[in-house]
Amino acid sequence: ARRTIEKGRALHKRTAELFFQCLREDSRGLQGRDYLHRRGVSDSVAVAFGLGFAPQQWDFLTERLLREGYSTEELEQFGLALRRAGGEGHYDRFRNRLIFPIFDGQGRPIAFGGRVLGDEMPKYLNSPETPLYKKGQHLYGLHKAGPFIREKGMAILVEGYMDVITCHQHGVTQAVATLGTALTIEQGRLLLRYGSSVLICYDGDRAGTAATIKAGRILTELGAKVKVLHLQEAKDPDEFLQSQGASKLWQAIDKAPTYIEYRYKQAHAQQNLNSVEGKVATIRELAPDLLSIPSAVEQEANVQWLAKQVGISDSSIIEELRSLSHSRP
Ligand code: CTP
Ligand code: MN
Ligand code: MN
Ligand code: MN
Ligand code: MN
Repeated sequence: ARRTIEKGRALHKRTAELFFQCLREDSRGLQGRDYLHRRGVSDSVAVAFGLGFAPQQWDFLTERLLREGYSTEELEQFGLALRRAGGEGHYDRFRNRLIFPIFDGQGRPIAFGGRVLGDEMPKYLNSPETPLYKKGQHLYGLHKAGPFIREKGMAILVEGYMDVITCHQHGVTQAVATLGTALTIEQGRLLLRYGSSVLICYDGDRAGTAATIKAGRILTELGAKVKVLHLQEAKDPDEFLQSQGASKLWQAIDKAPTYIEYRYKQAHAQQNLNSVEGKVATIRELAPDLLSIPSAVEQEANVQWLAKQVGISDSSIIEELRSLSHSRP
């Protein structure tokens, strides 16, 4: 198992180099460089994140790596090559895509994501789970953001590769991404090793909102101080920064509500708080979030705050929470 891991590390290091060289030096990488220019990504940040390009060729990687002594089994095991259906031989997983290496905490590449340059589907293709890469255990960009999160005490959680990269380019250096999936408890724990507060800044669409609620609850449960920045003027932090710049983003971050305040605002927009039903519905909506606060003192403070907003006594909210926590599955 140890040998497999070592081999996988060497394989990913070499693969990252080959994709990197293709983007920087190969004429086939020109369209990748143009694409990055169009999206406003600077050369220095592209280099810092080791971005690469996989040309439109079935065996760019496979041919080269077999020559260098890797086996097809190894390439397949680490998700870089796929076996031809019903036939002999293998072909590259990543073709004609911009390549984002995914690094471990020490900055070693352990997986890859590849983006099409146009509107083809799927937009992103990622390495599968391998002996080196367990999706829910890593955060994209943490090897770069880690020291800044420590320094500033706050992490910024975003959805995707481009969000992290554009954030770093604009000096928002504490950004890390869950890469489209919902935040796992393991990722939450990992993040909280670097700092106790997290600002969630997912995409402004429905999927982003749903993922914000899940991530907020997990982080709250882990004892984090959580804030939420819901972007309205742009669809994600990348677009926001490209169109409005970093100082606008920092202004919005300064005004970002706490997770509970954010959840209250959402409920408030849906319920009529002048009616008893509206008050009850709001309290029920926020109950899982309030119940997930591990500190009794903080929970009480939040209950008091909510009581004031809704215009109801603390004790009836506590009563409602009690009955809900007992009836929970
Ligand atoms: N993602 C993925 N596979 C997809 C779509 C998304 O793995 N088919 C992951 C990627 O890590 C992506 C993240 O989810 O970065 C966020 O997805 P989305 O918001 O759809 O894409 P963007 O990152 O905004 O992509 P871009 O700005 O490049 O269009
Ligand atoms: Mn350039
Ligand atoms: Mn999205
Ligand atoms: Mn985007
Ligand atoms: Mn997005």
